[in-house]
Amino acid sequence: MISKMLRRARDFENKYLPYTVSELPKFHVTGGIGWINDPNGFAPYKGEYHLFFQYYPYDTKWGPMHWGHVKTTDFIRWERLPAALAPDAEYDQDGCFSGSSVELPDGRQLLMYTGVRTVRRRNGMIESFQTQCIAVGDGVDYEKHANNPVIDASSLPEGGSVHDFRDPKIWRENDRYYAVIGNRCKDGSGTILLYESEDAVSWKYVSIVSSCHNQYGRMWECPDLFALDGKDVLLVSPQEMEAIGLEFHPGNANVCLIGSLDKRINHLVRESVQAIDYGLDFYAPQTLLTEDGRRVMIAWMQNWETSFSKVQELRFFGQMTLPRELSLKEGRLIQNPVRELEKYRGIKNEYHNVLINGETSLRSINGRYLDMTVTVRPGNENNIYKWFRLYVAKDGEHFTFIRFRPETGTIKVDRTHSGFPHDIVNVREFPINSRNGILKLRIIMDRYSLEIFVNDGEQAASFVLYTPVEAGSISFSSDGAVLLNVEKYELCID
Ligand code: FRU
Repeated sequence: MISKMLRRARDFENKYLPYTVSELPKFHVTGGIGWINDPNGFAPYKGEYHLFFQYYPYDTKWGPMHWGHVKTTDFIRWERLPAALAPDAEYDQDGCFSGSSVELPDGRQLLMYTGVRTVRRRNGMIESFQTQCIAVGDGVDYEKHANNPVIDASSLPEGGSVHDFRDPKIWRENDRYYAVIGNRCKDGSGTILLYESEDAVSWKYVSIVSSCHNQYGRMWECPDLFALDGKDVLLVSPQEMEAIGLEFHPGNANVCLIGSLDKRINHLVRESVQAIDYGLDFYAPQTLLTEDGRRVMIAWMQNWETSFSKVQELRFFGQMTLPRELSLKEGRLIQNPVRELEKYRGIKNEYHNVLINGETSLRSINGRYLDMTVTVRPGNENNIYKWFRLYVAKDGEHFTFIRFRPETGTIKVDRTHSGFPHDIVNVREFPINSRNGILKLRIIMDRYSLEIFVNDGEQAASFVLYTPVEAGSISFSSDGAVLLNVEKYELCID
């Protein structure tokens, strides 16, 4: 049965969604209208891939969380489905927070999410109570389970906080269900807990998979745990992170822990820790396994810190990254755009061995919907160039640039002049694996975004750009001689 609250959200969508279509990105998921944050329930179901998201349809700011819903067969074209969940039960009356989904053996789809209930204490303090809930449905309509909440404070390990206990990521393995859930422990920082169940309804606590110990941020949100290329990988989104060199930026950050799960105690033995995305806009990633065995990740292409700065005229706020294929190489995470994007490549323009020294633009190398690979190498072996810059989304007033300095081995992206009408953080710099001035950048652009993949996915960096779409010039600039190869495809997605 559909509650009044969910019916209202669906009616609202039916009424207003037709008006927003022309202002949306072409291939990045948005809510269509209203606010979105974290991806939820990203998983295969009946031969398609479903994606839900934190959603407040009525305004472009965060509000009582619903779950919005889309699905796809190729990660590029998405079909919009009606809102899936509304905060309409006592145990989730203040929000259906993040979670995940799984296909049940009987063909139904199960959603697992955090139900939030807040209480105002006599002293005025507001306390949030977070429990894990499930809903089961047919891929469109979902019924919340009579046993909800299915995991509550009674199965937290000692010292675990019921006020920060959220974002279950469920999976099925050997006929059992498992879920990792973010929690805050006694030292005030995050832990990732593992739970186990035979039927996805009765759960028991198993172990602490990994603890923050106040080292990488504080509370850890939105965990995801999976096997990848012979290792185990844990993704977390830490709050209150302090910057560590150029590797981790402050605030709401993103961290990938790579190691091996000690199966006797179900604890991750860490081998390395790195940032997932080095851009300004990336949070709460979630992954799925495709039928052909690829681990694909999607994330909220936004940052909580800058989520108040928006374009007033737009009726939607928040978008997802382009889904990425993950792999490991030499102990590091490699990310590349899903290969399905290549089906949408249209006209190709290419240049080889263009010598630049100063500012240059190249005929037909422009646009805002594109997939472009730029390879840079020194034009003079004896005197390596000082810096190379690639400008995108340019017109007389606006530009965003990517600058590479071979000497320091760093990339800096600056969107100060991209058209944000707010004074926010607009610059991010990060170290790359420098190879004597040789650099390969793959740039994916949609109406409001720039995603950069460095050296075949060794690093990825995501940025929201609110530059007017007419600003489509691209230019190259260097201090010192640089040899350029450029291969640009228009992306044709209607
Ligand atoms: C992460 C997060 C989650 C929570 C959701 C609420 O961005 O804070 O921990 O479930 O957003 O919308």
